[in-house]
Amino acid sequence: MLLPNQSVNHHGHLVVGGCDTVELAREYGTPLYVLDEQVIREKCREYLDAFGRRLPQAAVAYASKALMTKAICRIMDQEGMSMDVASEGELYTALQAGFPAERIKLHGNFKKTELLRTALEQNVGRIVADSLPELQQISEIAVALGVEADVLIRVTPGVKADTHERIRTGQEDTKFGVSLASSAAMEATRLALELPHVNLHGFHCHIGSQLLYTDGFGLAAHIVMDFIASVRAETGYVAEQFDIGGGLGIRYCTDDVPPSVDRLAEEIAIALAESAQQHEIPMPQLIVEPGRSIVGEAGVTLYTIGVVKEIPDLRTYVSVDGGMSDNPRPLLYDAEYEVLVANRADAHPSHIVRISGAHCETDTLVAEVAVADPQPGDILAVQSTGAYSYSMASNYNRFTRPAMVMVNDGHAELIVRRETLEDLVRCDMVPTRLA
Ligand SMILES: Cc1ncc(COP(=O)(O)O)c(C=O)c1O
Repeated sequence: MLLPNQSVNHHGHLVVGGCDTVELAREYGTPLYVLDEQVIREKCREYLDAFGRRLPQAAVAYASKALMTKAICRIMDQEGMSMDVASEGELYTALQAGFPAERIKLHGNFKKTELLRTALEQNVGRIVADSLPELQQISEIAVALGVEADVLIRVTPGVKADTHERIRTGQEDTKFGVSLASSAAMEATRLALELPHVNLHGFHCHIGSQLLYTDGFGLAAHIVMDFIASVRAETGYVAEQFDIGGGLGIRYCTDDVPPSVDRLAEEIAIALAESAQQHEIPMPQLIVEPGRSIVGEAGVTLYTIGVVKEIPDLRTYVSVDGGMSDNPRPLLYDAEYEVLVANRADAHPSHIVRISGAHCETDTLVAEVAVADPQPGDILAVQSTGAYSYSMASNYNRFTRPAMVMVNDGHAELIVRRETLEDLVRCDMVPTRLA
C-alpha cells in the first residue's frame, strides 16, 4: 500500500515527502521515524476548513498525546490550531516550544496539584475537570493564586464506541469523567457554578480512538446536547462550549476505510443543529480534538532487516532492529500495519512473513504480511506510524529511542535526535556504598 504522499523512484526506492527513504536510512540510521510535514499541515487545514465552514466558531485542538515534539508544536501554532495536553511533560513541551498558553487545554483523570497549579499560573486556556474532587481542588488552587480557572467538565455519554477496548472511553464503565446517566454530571455542574474562582465554559466528552464510523460522534453530540438542555432547565446555565473529543480513525491497512474529516464535520454539525433546534438552546461553540488523524498517516518507520528465519512448513520470521520499544501498539491493541521493502518498493510482495522486533519478548510488529522477498540488510518501511509510536516509545531492553526526521518537498531535517547510550545512563545513580 502506497499512501498519497508516497511514490517509488527510478531506483525502486520508497519516496516520502520527496525524500528517498533508503537514503534517509543511510544518513540517519535505523530505526528511524520519518514524518511528512506537508501531510500534517494539510490535515490541520482539512479540519479547520471542514469544521469552520459548518460551524464558524469551531476550534480544532491537536491532541498532543499522539505525537509531541517541539517542532510539532510550532506547526500546530502556525496552522492556527489549539492544543490538548494531558501531563506535565506535554504542557512543558508546548510551553517550551512557545505555544500560546491561552490555546492550551489540560486533560487528565488524575492531575497532580503541581500540574493544576502550573496550568493556572501559566494561564492555560481551559482545564478539563474530570471529577467533583478535582473541581474542588481547582477552585482551592485558583483562590490561593488569586486567578480564575476556566474549566470544561468531562462527561461520559454512555456511548460504547466500536474500537479496541483499551481505547474506548465514552462508555459508563470508565475511569474518565462524570457520568451523565447517574446524577454525577449534574452534581458536578452545580458545584462548578458555585465554586469560587471557577468559570464553567461547558462540557467535554471523548468516546474513543481509531473510530472508522461517524455515527458514534452524532450520538454523543445528541446525548451531550440533551444534557446541556437539562442543565439549562435545572440551573439556568447555558453552556457556551462543547468539546466532542477526538477519535477519527486512519488507514493503517488497505482494508481500513476511515471516514473523511468532512464526513465527520457533517455528522457533528447536523447533530448539533438538530439538538439545538429541538431543545431551543443556542448552539455552543464546538471544539474537536483530533490526534491520530492529524499525524498518523504522515509517519513511516524505517527498520533494517537483520535476520530472516525460515521454519519449514510453518512460517518465516523477519527480525528488524526495533520493535515494541519504538512501537508498542501491536502488543497493546493487536494493531495491524502494512509494510514495504523500501529499497525494492516496486517489487511484487511475494513472501508471506511475520515481522518481529529485536526485544526479549515475542514482540511481533506485524503478524502476517506479504513482502517482496526480504533479505538481511533490506530497509523495511512500516506505514502509518506517525501517531502513538514515538509518543509511546520506551527504553525497554535499554534500546535507545530512534531519531525522527521531518521531510518536506525533498528536504529532510532531524526533529528528534537519536538517543545515545549516554542518555540511557544519564539518570542512573550509584549509591556511594556500591561505588
Ligand atoms: C480526551 C482525548 N481527546 C482526544 C484524544 C485523541 O484521540 P485520537 O488520537 O484518536 O484523535 C484522546 C485520545 O485518547 C483523548 O483521550
